[in-house]
Amino acid sequence: MLILGIETSCDETAAAVVEDGREILSSCVASQVEDHKAFGGVVPEIASRKHLETINFVVEQALGEAKVDFNDLQAAAVTYGPGLAGALLIGIQTAKAISFVHKIPLIGINHLEGHIYSAFLEDSTLSPPAIALIVSGGHTSLVYVKDLGDYEVLGQTRDDAAGEVFDKVARMMDLGYPGGPIIDSLAKKGDVKAVKFPQARLKSGSPFDFSFSGVKTSVLYYLRYTKKDEVASKEDIAASFQYAVVETLVKKSLAAAKEKKTDKIILGGGVAANSYLRQVLKERAGKEGISAYSPSLSFCTDNAAMIAGLGFVRYNLGDRSSFSLNACPNLSL
Ligand code: KG4
Ligand code: ZN
Repeated sequence: MLILGIETSCDETAAAVVEDGREILSSCVASQVEDHKAFGGVVPEIASRKHLETINFVVEQALGEAKVDFNDLQAAAVTYGPGLAGALLIGIQTAKAISFVHKIPLIGINHLEGHIYSAFLEDSTLSPPAIALIVSGGHTSLVYVKDLGDYEVLGQTRDDAAGEVFDKVARMMDLGYPGGPIIDSLAKKGDVKAVKFPQARLKSGSPFDFSFSGVKTSVLYYLRYTKKDEVASKEDIAASFQYAVVETLVKKSLAAAKEKKTDKIILGGGVAANSYLRQVLKERAGKEGISAYSPSLSFCTDNAAMIAGLGFVRYNLGDRSSFSLNACPNLSL
């Protein structure tokens, strides 16, 4: 079964063709990073306009690379939330038009579930139950995946998302945008113990919730109040900040796996591309007899292959969306 996936929730215009939920025939992503760079973050209005300009070309490219045409498709799966309302609508309207004209089912997909599915897309040996750590520019969630389609959210961030805090710290350090990949590569040359930044320990509420405002403010104060000749190098600050964030993410993920008695942890979302997070999770999980599954870098960040792949699962679960499908900017799992 060939499914076309469309993803426009944030600043990547993406389309993909996936066969039977696993076989990626094409995965095309047009990034808008250059359009938003000057503003230091995603400008929603620019994002919508760029999606509109690009979407038809990206869909054509995805079909071309998969060597199929519209008549070969059996369904159109599209992200309908969470994300930017105007941006989501461009993908949704495109998928509706394709569904209507070619008389194929329309399937609305939750972007967060897509990030969870990325690990399954690439590894046919992986099966639930598992713990999923979804860390992106907009979300930080620890999820118990009982089965595909059956989730229990164990914890979420109370303030900034993991990717957001990477981007904000990079901005404080004048490193550029998006900050995550820049900090990742700088940190490789730095000392994780150079500066002690706080790891949030939440006393009340869920032990699996996250808070990154403390580490963010701590970096800000460090940069503002440390004497010029005592300030650590950019590399050391990046490594120390990244260490504080990664330690929190890894400790909570392992604790969640123990609580749910599962021996699998899945990573997903843009921050899952972080080389230090991938390495530390793998090492630490390995010591506890837990396997860590990290998708390839291109399937960590936003893409449409995860949407098309999950579309197959959702199709088999009986999901069909009507033409009244609307954007749900705050959709949760
Ligand atoms: O999943 P994604 O592409 O978009 C959202 O759904 O938000 O995630 C984008 C986020 C950005 O905040 C970016 O800085 C972060 O993922 N990111 C990284 C890395 N690559 C992307 N953060 C840390 N290390 C990386 N290598
Ligand atoms: Zn995402």
